[in-house]
Amino acid sequence: MQHKIESLRRELEQHNYNYYVLSAPTISDFDFDKKLRELQELENQHPEFFDPNSPTQRVGSDSVSGFEQVAHSYPMLSLGNTYSEGEVQDFYERVRKALNEDFELVCELKYDGTSISLTYENGLLVRAVTRGDGEKGDDVTANVKTIRSIPLRLQANFPAKFEIRGEILMPWAVFDELNKEREAQEEQLFANPRNAASGTLKLQNSTIVAQRKLDAYLYYMLGENLPTDLHSENLKAAHSWGFKISDATRVCKSLQDVFDFITYWDTERKNLPVATDGIVLKVNSLLQQKNLGFTAKSPRWAIAYKFQAEKAVTRLNSVSYQVGRTGAVTPVANLDPVQLSGTTVKRASLHNADIIASLDLHNGDMVFVEKGGEIIPKITAVDFDARLLIGDKVQFIKSCPECGSTLIRIEGEAAHYCPNENGCPPQIKGKMEHFVSRKAMNIDGLGSETIALLFENELLKDIADIYELKVPDLARLERLGNKSAVNIKTSYEASKEVPFERVLFALGIRFVGETVAKKLAFAFKTIEKLETATFEELIAVDEIGERIAQSVQKYFSDERSIELINRLKQYGLQMQVSEEKLQPAGNTLSGLSIVISGTFSKHSRDEYKTIIEQNGGKNVGSVSAKTSFILAGENMGPEKLKKAESLGVKLVTENEFLAMIGTEKPKPQQGFTGTLF
Ligand code: IVH
Repeated sequence: MQHKIESLRRELEQHNYNYYVLSAPTISDFDFDKKLRELQELENQHPEFFDPNSPTQRVGSDSVSGFEQVAHSYPMLSLGNTYSEGEVQDFYERVRKALNEDFELVCELKYDGTSISLTYENGLLVRAVTRGDGEKGDDVTANVKTIRSIPLRLQANFPAKFEIRGEILMPWAVFDELNKEREAQEEQLFANPRNAASGTLKLQNSTIVAQRKLDAYLYYMLGENLPTDLHSENLKAAHSWGFKISDATRVCKSLQDVFDFITYWDTERKNLPVATDGIVLKVNSLLQQKNLGFTAKSPRWAIAYKFQAEKAVTRLNSVSYQVGRTGAVTPVANLDPVQLSGTTVKRASLHNADIIASLDLHNGDMVFVEKGGEIIPKITAVDFDARLLIGDKVQFIKSCPECGSTLIRIEGEAAHYCPNENGCPPQIKGKMEHFVSRKAMNIDGLGSETIALLFENELLKDIADIYELKVPDLARLERLGNKSAVNIKTSYEASKEVPFERVLFALGIRFVGETVAKKLAFAFKTIEKLETATFEELIAVDEIGERIAQSVQKYFSDERSIELINRLKQYGLQMQVSEEKLQPAGNTLSGLSIVISGTFSKHSRDEYKTIIEQNGGKNVGSVSAKTSFILAGENMGPEKLKKAESLGVKLVTENEFLAMIGTEKPKPQQGFTGTLF
């Protein structure tokens, strides 16, 4: 059996490499998943063959703990930056003089992500550490293991121990998709893929990291026994061991070669799937690198050339303030229209009050506008020389431009907020738009314009008013005919059947997104229980942290929320997990104590908890001799596995469990024999 497990692992590693590194898959996704599941099943049945570097370990774990700080064996330095061909030439001359012999430079792209240092021992990834302060960083191994282009196990002929450094990136396509989702969930958007990549790498839950589809390029190897004296050859070797090395890596023998590389990639980089912000020049010979050495901050044998961000100068006419659905106030600069990277720019984001203050902005100033890695152009500086007549200093507003409430600033946050959640028009309208949205109550016919129209005509003051809308009143409004009016009514009537977990999501409680709403609904089962839940009860729920718990408590401590919920209850909305889901489904599990461990694909942990209870079983927290079995998801902790093994407690997979309670037919190849107890 060990042989079978090992050979499946090897086969899946090869497919991962073909797909993520070579971009040349030789197997369908479906067949890959099938094999991966087969391996997972075998590993579950044979915890004695557990391997932290198995392809199944890439799915992430839901352990919630801070990151351990690890000292780097070699400090992680940065590179000196240059911005012109002249400065590149200066670097070249410096190197030539210092070496006083022939040398080659390797030109590479400078990837704009977050740097990582990977340690391999005997061909296995043992540690992945962030740059941190350069001396020590965070151990993010669990998260890095989810990145498919990073090999967990190397192919032949690698040194016994070495470190390899590179850049973790979020491809543009993934970044755009993620921001779209975040917008829909009213979460703050990532400004650029770099922030998104580093934010993702610092997530506590690697299951989410796994979903974010990060990528990685490696560009710097360190160790005692590297294959050759040439950086370029070592990268080739690394490629043959399974690492993703950029194709845009050139050995240059002259300064002209370097300039050609720069010129080519300055435009060609726009067609790459990931962000780059320059090129890196490195002396190819490691011996020569050693002779050149380091300054305190950076190597003398390498330098970065940064691409020019496209810039323009224009006049700042005024600053206006937008109030978002969450009450966050965003300052926006209104500019004289100017051409930048092929588009006309009239507005630029100013982010927050601190940025306005640090730019020393005055109305009428000539300002530099840049479109760097960001999607929205930003003001980077004032052209002080062009300031002839000084206008009024831009002062961040003190009260909400929409409702007049005094703005607040939460400690530690950069943004100002309008606290008038229930009385500020954009916040009310935003709440309504969210309430009717597809993943919430799914009410048709109420787009943002219609909501604005109904709001202005005082037919909608809060979300509960939706259920008071009458067809004749609606039909009387311009732009809304009888047909649309009937459609709205039919649709809100149908929404009364929307399950509780979605109603809870629809309420728009801050930080309660779709997943959190589901977890809370299944953990507390009724709105009344959730209303009265203590802080401790809230944070005891899987994945509910202090920030969410506080927000939930704040929401329910406001009597307007309670009033609103009471009205919604009267209209017949679902305020508890459906009868069907609550009713005991059977007593298949009666008398059994079951531990849930790992991550699951078909239901959340809380749902499984409910399912166990519905079937007469008891969910317990830790493994003991009394445990009947462990409902084992993917990536179960090795400690629990060991304990289960030593006590002889059986592991039951997700599919086996569902088969056991009769919701799913067992698949024959998954080996459920029905004789588990
Ligand atoms: S070499 C000792 N090569 O740029 C120098 N760095 O400011 C080791 N970067 O922290 C770095 N692409 O995060 C190197 N091809 C490349 C790079 C690269 C991006 C980043 C890296 C580093 C920063 C240097």
